[in-house]
Amino acid sequence: MKAANCRLGFVGFGHMAQIIFSAVDRSKLISRSQIQFLRRDRAKMKENEQRYKITATTLETLVHNSDLLILSVRPQQANEVLDQLAAIGGLEGKWIVSILAGVSIEAIAQRLKVPVQIIRVMPNIASAVNEGMSILSFGPRCCPEFQSLTHQLFGAMGEVSELKEELLDIACGMAGSGPGFVIRMIDAVAQAGVKHGIDYSASLKIAAQTFAGAAQLIQQGQMPDDLIAQIATPNGTTQAGLDVMRQKGISEGIEAAIEASALRSRELRL
Ligand SMILES: NC(=O)c1ccc[n+]([C@@H]2O[C@H](COP(=O)([O-])OP(=O)(O)OC[C@H]3O[C@@H](n4cnc5c(N)ncnc54)[C@H](OP(=O)(O)O)[C@@H]3O)[C@@H](O)[C@H]2O)c1
Repeated sequence: MKAANCRLGFVGFGHMAQIIFSAVDRSKLISRSQIQFLRRDRAKMKENEQRYKITATTLETLVHNSDLLILSVRPQQANEVLDQLAAIGGLEGKWIVSILAGVSIEAIAQRLKVPVQIIRVMPNIASAVNEGMSILSFGPRCCPEFQSLTHQLFGAMGEVSELKEELLDIACGMAGSGPGFVIRMIDAVAQAGVKHGIDYSASLKIAAQTFAGAAQLIQQGQMPDDLIAQIATPNGTTQAGLDVMRQKGISEGIEAAIEASALRSRELRL
């Protein structure tokens, strides 16, 4: 199925679903008339309908009217929704993308009780500015057409990588939760400037652009150790800071934060 013919249904329409919808809408891959959604809060449903000019509907109609369902509730809300989907039926032949952290393809398939094609995607918030990092993991029954459509949709909002499903927990820590850690680091850089007299908005600009520029050097193919060797001359300013980072165990701290996120993802298993 071509993206232009695909009818898309969001089961849950919170922060991440709205980012994905907006990115798909910007890409013009699927027209708004082919996109529907469902959430529990009626006032927010109305507000979303008016804001995005798409239709909210019942779960039953959403299933009936969609070729591709995006499961985008919170992991803790998944069982309830999956049971409702199983009770409604009519899922045969549907394509399902799950963005739920921690919830396995097998757990979703078992709960739905019918053989459906499922792809897990770990997206991130940077998809809002088309700089997302989405990690895809394909279920055993996924046809090439579904795989290619999912690549196309998430590729329209940033970079896409494929990983085996057992690596999605760590990918959640790195990419799904990752922006939270990077933003905390950017803020820490900015606060250092504030402490020494730069106002916060100027300081934040300096910090964010420093992260963005450093990331681009790596994205263009340069290796971290080679870059550091270029920046850090012996006994120079960068080396002085790197020595403190090592003494304070900054790299180990970042690794531990990512591992804690991966562990939480594993704990969320259904
Ligand atoms: N946020 C991120 O940066 C990020 C990154 C990667 C992956 N994810 C994954 O994305 C998923 C959603 O996260 P989020 O941050 O977008 O959460 P969220 O803002 O809380 O959104 C959850 C949505 O699910 C809806 N919902 C809950 N129970 C429902 C039900 N029984 N029927 C219909 N709708 C229901 C909620 O509706 P109401 O609000 O109307 O109750 C809400 O719209 C999670 O599984 C998370 O692991 C998020």
